[in-house]
Amino acid sequence: MKKKFLDLAKQPLANSFLHNIKKKNLKREYFYNLSVSFDKKNHQVSLTKHVNPKMQYTNLYAHRASQSQTMRKFFQDIALKLQRKFKPKLSMEIGSNDGVFLKNFNKKNIIAVEPCINLAKITKLQGYKTYSKFWTKKLAKNIVKSHQKLDLIFSANTLSHIPNLKETFDAISISLSKDGILVIEDPYIGTVIKSNSYDQFYDEHVYVFSLLSISKTVSLSNLRLFDSEPITTHGGSMRYYICKVESKYKPTKRLNYFINKELKQKLNKFSTYQNFSQRVKKSKKDLIKLLTSLKKKKKKIIVYGATYKSTTILNYCNLGSKYFDYAIDTTPNKQGKFTPGKHIPIISPQKGFNDSVDYAFLGAWNFKKEIFKKEINFIKRGGKFITHVPKVRII
Ligand code: TYD
Repeated sequence: MKKKFLDLAKQPLANSFLHNIKKKNLKREYFYNLSVSFDKKNHQVSLTKHVNPKMQYTNLYAHRASQSQTMRKFFQDIALKLQRKFKPKLSMEIGSNDGVFLKNFNKKNIIAVEPCINLAKITKLQGYKTYSKFWTKKLAKNIVKSHQKLDLIFSANTLSHIPNLKETFDAISISLSKDGILVIEDPYIGTVIKSNSYDQFYDEHVYVFSLLSISKTVSLSNLRLFDSEPITTHGGSMRYYICKVESKYKPTKRLNYFINKELKQKLNKFSTYQNFSQRVKKSKKDLIKLLTSLKKKKKKIIVYGATYKSTTILNYCNLGSKYFDYAIDTTPNKQGKFTPGKHIPIISPQKGFNDSVDYAFLGAWNFKKEIFKKEINFIKRGGKFITHVPKVRII
């Protein structure tokens, strides 16, 4: 049974950037109650109530995985590593976005699945076989019929977005070859708890997985976890290696190590999440206090990276144009728009990241390293960054 531990107030859809903020448009803006629950039975952390995916993954979907240099390099490395290690004949990616992972494969050896039409178009044009559909058992059966069973299925930051996990993993089980493997990556609840990164919760992140929860969930679809690897993307994710129950892969030592670590961190106990919820409330208070004191000193503060994550923070802490002059973001289709819920204008870094900025709140804190390297001149001239992870502070 799911039990609620965190209330993150009324929220808009994280990717619903507004074209204009005329009254008529604002009236139509959709809000829902964002709260998070823990299920003692399967150790799953999930949104108490999810939003209909058909409202989220439309042909206006703004996220482009290949926008950051860090991510391009990261996906290239894992694509080459998986091909070297497992030598798959036919692979597939679920949630292929703009092709940042699959472009490292030979076109004949990989299939793409991507429900957002605007993104699916990109990989289709590049010559990759792309199914512009939601991942279901029906689609899995069609793919097996038209091609063959798959030796590698990869999915990054996608399965945690799909409400029906039973259907999702059943479909994977149908399409995997005998010793085929599934590799998934998603933000990790162990890191969320440790770094107080409550902004990992927004409408698209229906689940934030642990090894304990994934292990139980896949076992219902004749699958099992055999390895895991912590990774740094999205501020702390976990890579899960999964195979069929009867497959040749043995559970690795590091899998056991990380499962024991989760038990020590008490990720199987409700009290862990209750304590986390108290820390989130304190984080909100601290952030409002810091920004208020800077505004009193007439400082100019902007948001650096109009991320989906920052939608949760801005709306939960009720931070709008009173605090932030604007947000800057490198994604062309976010520029000229307004942030969901709080309606802060978004402009390009070229236009907005100039000498007038005193403080930049890190919406894209997960790219802190890349950003600090790039913005060395801002830092040198005394510009400061603000972050809320693991604690609210000026850097
Ligand atoms: P992402 O990490 O995918 O976060 P989320 O899933 O929460 O949206 O998005 C990063 C965003 O930050 C993306 O819109 C691009 C932007 N960004 C910048 O504007 N400048 C930068 O230097 C970097 C690294 C990212």
